[in-house]
Amino acid sequence: MNFVGSHILSVSQFERDDIESVFSVADQMIPYANRERVTRVLEGAILGNMFFEPSTRTRVSFGCAWNLLGGDVRETTEIKASAIAKGESFYDTARVLSGYSDLIVMRHQIEGSVEEFASASRVPVINGGDGSNEHPSQALLDLYTIRKEMEGRGKQVDDLRIALIGDLRYGRAVHSLCKLLSLYTNIHFTLISPSELKLPEQYVANIEARGHKVVEMEDLQAGITQADILYVTRTQEERFPSQEEADRYKGLFRLNQSIYTEFCEPNTVIMHPLPRDSRGDARELDDDLNENPNLAIFRQTDNGVVIRMALFAMILDVADKVEDSAQEVPWYTEGRFRS
Ligand code: CP
Repeated sequence: MNFVGSHILSVSQFERDDIESVFSVADQMIPYANRERVTRVLEGAILGNMFFEPSTRTRVSFGCAWNLLGGDVRETTEIKASAIAKGESFYDTARVLSGYSDLIVMRHQIEGSVEEFASASRVPVINGGDGSNEHPSQALLDLYTIRKEMEGRGKQVDDLRIALIGDLRYGRAVHSLCKLLSLYTNIHFTLISPSELKLPEQYVANIEARGHKVVEMEDLQAGITQADILYVTRTQEERFPSQEEADRYKGLFRLNQSIYTEFCEPNTVIMHPLPRDSRGDARELDDDLNENPNLAIFRQTDNGVVIRMALFAMILDVADKVEDSAQEVPWYTEGRFRS
C-alpha cells in the first residue's frame, strides 16, 4: 500500500511487505526513542489525539511519538470534554478537527466509528481502537515484538506457535493480531477461552482460509504447552451487556509463575496488550511473573513508540528526512527507555 496521506483503519489494509516496511522504519526510530538523538522533522505539525474512550499507553505513546519527531499535540481524553456530548456528529467533528490538525488519532467505543470519522476528515486518521473491532497499531507493535523475541531465540514469525488466552470475543487487539499473523506462513493458533468468549467465526475462517492450524479449547494448562508465545488478555468488561455477566469470566484463566514453570517450555514468551487487570478477582497475568525475563509486556509498550513514530513518518512522507534535522541529545540518558 502507499502509506503517504493514507488513513490507517484496519490491518486488512496491509500485505506482508507493508508490515516489513513499517518495521524497517521503526528500527530507524530506535535512537530517537532511546533519547540518543533528537529530530525536528515534524516541527510545526499538530497531532489531534482524540481519545473518546479511556487509554493510557495508546494515547500517551502516540503523543510521545509525535513529540519525538518534533511536532505538537492537542488532545481530548473523554467524550464529556468534547461537543460529541452535545450531539455533534462524527462528520462535523471530523470536519472541524481536521482543520486544526495535520493528522488525527481517534479512539471511540463504537465499532466503525473511526472509519465514519475518517470519511469526513481532511487529514489522515489512525484508528486508536474502535469498540471491539480493531486496534491496528497495537497489532503492529505486537507483531514487531513477536519478531524480535523470536529472533532472540533463533526463530522467526513463520512457523510460530501462539496461544491466545482469555476474552477473544471482545478483544480488538486479538482480532487485529490474528489477521496480521495470518499473512505469515504455517502459524499454529491455540485459542483458549470460555465457549461464550470464543474468537468470532470470521476471524477463525480467515486464519483457516490462509492455511494455518487452529485449535480451540477451554483448558489453560493443556493449551499453553508447546507454545512459543502466550498472548494473555483481560476480560473486556466494558463491552459486556452487564457487569454481572462480565464478572462470570473474571479470574477464569490465571497465568502465574507456578503454572508457567510446570506447563510451559523454557523461554516461552509472555505477552499481553495491557492493561492487565491486577484486581484480586481477576489477575489474568499475575504480578509474580514480573521478574520473569520472558515477560515481554513492557518491551511491547516500549516498542509501541517506534511503531507509532514509523506510522507518522510514513503517512507524512518524512521517513527519509528524519536524519536531516537530527542531533545528539545534550542531557543525561543512561538507564532511560530502551527498546
Ligand atoms: N493496549 C491498549 O490499547 O492500552 P490502552 O487502553 O492503555 O491504550
